Amino acid sequence: MIPELDTDLAGGVLTLTISRTDKKNALTNAMYGALADAIEGAQDDPGIRVVVIRGAGDTFSAGNDVSEFAAQAAGNGPAERHVTRFLHSLATARLPLVAAVQGKAVGVGTTMLLHCDYVLLADDAQLITPFINLALVPEAASSLLMPLRVGHARAFEMFALGEPVAAAQALAWGLANRIVPAHQLHAEAKAMAARIAAKPAGSLLAMKGLMRDGQALVAQMEAESACFEARLKSAEAREAFSAFAQRRPADFSKVARA
Ligand code: COA
Repeated sequence: MIPELDTDLAGGVLTLTISRTDKKNALTNAMYGALADAIEGAQDDPGIRVVVIRGAGDTFSAGNDVSEFAAQAAGNGPAERHVTRFLHSLATARLPLVAAVQGKAVGVGTTMLLHCDYVLLADDAQLITPFINLALVPEAASSLLMPLRVGHARAFEMFALGEPVAAAQALAWGLANRIVPAHQLHAEAKAMAARIAAKPAGSLLAMKGLMRDGQALVAQMEAESACFEARLKSAEAREAFSAFAQRRPADFSKVARA
C-alpha cells in the first residue's frame, strides 16, 4: 500500500480514501495501481460486501496528475501504466461501489462516478470534465456512459466546455443519488454503505451483474484509450501541458488542426 491511499475495512465495507491533499488528490500512476489492487482484491474477498471511494481534504480529486500526462506525452511515462487496470476494475466490479464526493471532482474524478452505484454529493461538490482544455478526450467509458446518463446535449456541453456542474444540477441530471451537507458526507456514505452491506450479498451481486455490461464498457475504454494516446502526443496537448506548468491560460489559436 502507499500513503496516498488509506484503506479501512469494517462491517463488510471497504473504504478507500484518496489522500494526496497537497495536490488536491490528483491521481498518480502509483495511486491508480493501489486503487486497482484494492478494488480487484475486494471482489473475491468474502469479508467485503461494499466498497466506498472517497477523498480526504476539501477536494474529491483533481483528476489525473497533469505532470504525469506531460511526461507521458514526452515519452517519459512509466513502464507499466496502472490507470487502465484501475478503470477496468471499476467497469468490471461485481461489488456495489459507493462514492462520497466533496469539492471538485475533475476529469477521472467525475468519470469514475459513472461506475459507482450510489453517489453522494456534498453540497459544495462540483463535477468537471475538462479533457478538452488539455486537448484530450473523455475516458473511463464516459463517452458512452455520460450521454446515456444525462443525454447527448448535456454530455456534449460538459465535455466541450469543461465547465463545473454544481451539485444540484448533477443531482437533477441523474449523476448522483443525494446531496448532503459537507460535514455529514462521510457519515452519510458510511451509513448508506452499511445499509447496502446488510442486504443479501449474492442477490446484490447478481442484480448488479444484470444492470451493467462490464465487457462492453471495457471495449469502449479501449477505443477511448487509442484516441487519448494519439491526442496526448498532439501539438495542442503540448500547448495545454506547457500552459498548466507555467500557470497561464492555454492559447490554441495558433495550433493548426491535426
Ligand atoms: N495534477 C497535478 N497537480 C495538480 C493537479 C493535477 N491534476 N491539480 C492540482 N494540482 C496541484 C497544483 O499544481 C498545486 O500544486 P503546488 O501547490 O505545488 O503549486 C496544488 O495541487 C494545489 O492546486 P491549486 O490549483 O493551487 O488549488 P485550487 O484550489 O486553486 O484549484 C483545482 C484546484 C483542482 C481546481 C485546480 O488545481 C485544477 O484545475 N487542477 C487541474 C485539474 C485538471 O485539469 N485535471 C486533469 C483533468 S483531465
